Amino acid sequence: MAEVFEMTHPLVRHHITILRDSRTPPALFRAQTRRLATLLGAQATADLPLREARVSTPITDFVGSELAVRLALVPILRAGLGLVEPLLELLPEAEVWHLGMYRDEKTSQPVEYYCKLRADNPCDVGMVLDPMLATGGSVLSAIEALKRWGCPDIRVLSVIASQPGIDRLRREHPDVKVYVCAIDPELNDRNFIVPGLGDAGDRIFNT
Ligand code: PRP
Repeated sequence: MAEVFEMTHPLVRHHITILRDSRTPPALFRAQTRRLATLLGAQATADLPLREARVSTPITDFVGSELAVRLALVPILRAGLGLVEPLLELLPEAEVWHLGMYRDEKTSQPVEYYCKLRADNPCDVGMVLDPMLATGGSVLSAIEALKRWGCPDIRVLSVIASQPGIDRLRREHPDVKVYVCAIDPELNDRNFIVPGLGDAGDRIFNT
């Protein structure tokens, strides 16, 4: 079964409550998304492998550590863009591979409109970034693109997920790790997460 990490940190619970509030304006919504992405990023990287790194301090030689993996951040446009900068702050050497996808309003199926992932030289770890995992269709499609690329370690970072979306992900991709700030119980008849936070893309970009 896929490993699912639902964050319980008090800062996550504090900041996501502000994010959910319909009175929160776009500038604050973006700032809250960044804060939550940083906390998610710390959790999602907690088991990354290290190798030895030798440096000289101003005083003496020191044997420290450096990350031993090549990482890809894979934001799903548009809303995933809100998670890129905070993750790049933590992982400044990561590659960023954008995936353009929108959810058809009638069918709720993801429609891909941009993908430049290559067919060779895959990263060791691929992190799918999308603040929302509703039916799970968009994230599943991103996971499939990363698997076609040959990425052996795929992680999904999402601010808010629905329980049905998480269940689907666990069923269809049991090898993928999922990191979320909160899992809400259900979807409404338009496949929006309930209680949720509305449409993250619209709230981030003020559309
Ligand atoms: C939203 C959201 C996810 C997707 C989640 O994107 O940002 O990408 O829907 O739904 P799913 O789990 O059912 O696939 P949207 O289609 O609104 O596009 P946007 O990010 O451009 O606003």
